[in-house]
Amino acid sequence: MQQPLINGRFAERFNLSSPIALAPMALATGGKLAAACARAGSLSLVGGGYGNLDWTQREYNDGINLLGDNKQDLSRLGCGFISWKLEEDRSAFDWILDQDHRPAAMMLSFGDPTPFSKILCDRKIPVICQIQTMAQLPQAVDAGASVIVAQGTEAGGHGMNDFEGRSTFTFVPEIADWLAKHSPDTHLLAAGGITDGRGALQPH
Ligand SMILES: Cc1cc2nc3c(=O)[nH]c(=O)nc-3n(C[C@H](O)[C@H](O)[C@H](O)COP(=O)(O)O)c2cc1C
Repeated sequence: MQQPLINGRFAERFNLSSPIALAPMALATGGKLAAACARAGSLSLVGGGYGNLDWTQREYNDGINLLGDNKQDLSRLGCGFISWKLEEDRSAFDWILDQDHRPAAMMLSFGDPTPFSKILCDRKIPVICQIQTMAQLPQAVDAGASVIVAQGTEAGGHGMNDFEGRSTFTFVPEIADWLAKHSPDTHLLAAGGITDGRGALQPH
């Protein structure tokens, strides 16, 4: 019997055996962690964060080298950046696009993704947009996001506080309803306070 999350649309689209994306945690998701997660079957996004060129080059290359002997695992490696910072310096973003390895996906968070998502869409690289409010959703979909990450205020690291953002528990279903109506092919991931498989995969 098919397990809808494990064998679902997201896993199928990105050739995953685990329906999870490793967050591109700025300066924290390095090549070794990304390679380990790719080998474990998840989508793995190096934490390009604020666009530090040296760090991104070293860690992304590390991931490529560690995964180089297995095309399937390597095909799960991508990167993520903070959009408002890319507006100041996009050298690391441009460097990724110049590499032979085509990123499995590029994640854009915090700011208007549009200028960068257009470049990615033109190259047919899947765009993942992480958002914190319903108001950001139409912009992310119009920007060409293949995947929306609904980030609740429970999220660690970067995100909105309790006054400005939404709880994961209520935010995710509201986005799911909106997508079902307006953009049913867009994938949806939840982020924030999901700590283990019991939160990610509901038994049935
Ligand atoms: C140390 C740390 C750094 C992060 N940096 C980024 C980042 O640069 N870009 C981004 O999109 N999300 C970043 N995030 C947020 C994650 O994408 C994700 O929303 C969050 O980790 C999910 O919540 P959880 O920690 O409860 O799993 C970061 C999270 C952490 C813990």
